[in-house]
Amino acid sequence: MRVLSGMQPSGALHLGNYFGSMKPNLEMSAKADESFYFVADLHALTSLQNAETLRQYRRDIVLDYLAAGFDPDRSIIFYQSDVPAHAELMWILSTVTPVGLLERAVSYKEKVEKGIAASAGLFTYPVLMAADILLYDANAVPVGKDQKQHLEMTRDIAIKFNNAYGDTFVVPEPMIREEVAVVPGTDGQKMSKSYGNTIPLFGDEKAIKKAIMGIVTDSRGPTEPKNPESNTIFQIHRLFLSQSEQKALADEYRHGISYGDAKKKLMEAYLYTFGAMRLKRAELEKKKGYVEEVMADGAAKARAVAGKTMDRVRKAVGLS
Ligand code: ADP
Ligand code: TRP
Repeated sequence: MRVLSGMQPSGALHLGNYFGSMKPNLEMSAKADESFYFVADLHALTSLQNAETLRQYRRDIVLDYLAAGFDPDRSIIFYQSDVPAHAELMWILSTVTPVGLLERAVSYKEKVEKGIAASAGLFTYPVLMAADILLYDANAVPVGKDQKQHLEMTRDIAIKFNNAYGDTFVVPEPMIREEVAVVPGTDGQKMSKSYGNTIPLFGDEKAIKKAIMGIVTDSRGPTEPKNPESNTIFQIHRLFLSQSEQKALADEYRHGISYGDAKKKLMEAYLYTFGAMRLKRAELEKKKGYVEEVMADGAAKARAVAGKTMDRVRKAVGLS
């Protein structure tokens, strides 16, 4: 099975990203026969127009993945923009993509409503995503629920192309991650960069402590019983625990744990789980040229695979 997934470089990862996307990605890449993970930096240009920031985010997400245990000897990791075939195939696919298909994209409408400029690039975002996937003959594409429609569009585009030019592309199967349950942020809403309610995975320990200590609570006194099901501290803390540990902690809440103690315990769980990863990231960051080396190596491997697909595509459409 060949697995492929892309991640947008959009700033410091938080616990929602980790439990909802990074952790399942890492587990998947460790299991797959072959896997490709790329940083979707061309996609990022649709919403981020600051060179310095993009440069930083692109590198950060690679460091984050490497620190979290991504093994570049087992899986291929690369920057999308290092493989020009993505943009080239996108053009060819755009010529078989009905405008009506793109007009139905919910993500486009949502982004425009959020204030992102309605550029042609934002509109054709799903065609680039189809190129990303079809270039590598990926069978399985693990993504969150929000990307389900994009994957359906990739399938539609692949089928359209195959009908027009004969069997060229593997039609990929979506692998929609059943949401690990939405991770709540410090204010109890969904944790998201856009809500400013995140607990980051990396970065200054003091800032993390501040975020955890700032989790919003009600006015229940220290010894009053608390319902773990509706408690934000518990709902975050449980992600770090086994079933039996969750049960034991839930009992403590029901018997009345103070919010201060509950938060201290969460901070301890956080450091226990991420301490090693955080140290590793700091070390990797100091290793000059390491990220660049890993990414150059990944790009070379990806270009070889993508090049073969492009030969097939050029032949199919008459460009060779
Ligand atoms: P943000 O909302 O902070 O901008 P993104 O949309 O960039 O996060 O999310 C990237 C990935 O992380 C998505 O695949 C999504 O499924 C996952 N994710 C983000 N926030 C959460 C959350 N609060 N709970 C679970 N998964 C999340
Ligand atoms: N659009 C995806 C996201 O925002 C990122 C992405 C780009 C992707 N190309 C992809 C995911 C190809 C899977 C396969 O999360």
